[in-house]
Amino acid sequence: MTTTAILSALAEEQQGLLELLQQPQKTSHAGRDFWQGRLHGQPVVLALSRIGKVAAATTSVALVERFKVGRIVFTGVAGGLGDGVCVGDMVVASGFVQHDLDVSPLFPRYEVPLYGQARFDCDKALTAQLLRAGRAGLASLALPAKTLLHHGLMASGDRFVSGADEARSLRSALRHGGHEALAVEMEGAAVAQVCFDYGIPFAAVRTISDRADDTAHVDFSVFVKDVASLYAQAIIRELMKLL
Ligand code: ADE
Repeated sequence: MTTTAILSALAEEQQGLLELLQQPQKTSHAGRDFWQGRLHGQPVVLALSRIGKVAAATTSVALVERFKVGRIVFTGVAGGLGDGVCVGDMVVASGFVQHDLDVSPLFPRYEVPLYGQARFDCDKALTAQLLRAGRAGLASLALPAKTLLHHGLMASGDRFVSGADEARSLRSALRHGGHEALAVEMEGAAVAQVCFDYGIPFAAVRTISDRADDTAHVDFSVFVKDVASLYAQAIIRELMKLL
């Protein structure tokens, strides 16, 4: 049976999953705690990416090399960038781009040197399962009818975007480079690139905690404390049934 890694950025996002973990066994490695066990009968490893692309890459490599996981799923929160991507909505990623990567004029803006691409796509089959799980998870949470599930590109970078002007210019620069991003976060592109390197499937879902605008830090903190873990629990429960 393939072992699934479930990554979250923050302890608050992971808490609900840890509560559901059966036969939990903790291993400390590379300054991180890895929780092996079962969720709804599926072998899993729960881990924190920590914050930012380098930290997320370290955790991802450890998951592959040391824990031999066969796929990685990320659940966490993100700032909404696209029109109509509101706090409380969910975004299932189709792929990732690094919004802070710029090796121009040597390479086109956003392109990852020596890969010949800017965008790292998520695994299609795993993403289809995550979309189904997201829909079922949202339904189970009895949220307001206007809560939406989106599917599209996410942008990762090593900064918390907390200004309406910054969010606007980040979005329009990405668009200029041919990338229409729905949400912004700080880890996904790194995990996607590691999974590409190792040839293992990757999928990601993010709940929108803020609009990456001037109140982003306040909205983010409230959401992460009160809501994020419930979303992660609901989505992962549904995903485990589909694997
Ligand atoms: N994760 C959640 N909200 C974010 C934001 N505004 N910027 C970057 N990462 C985020």
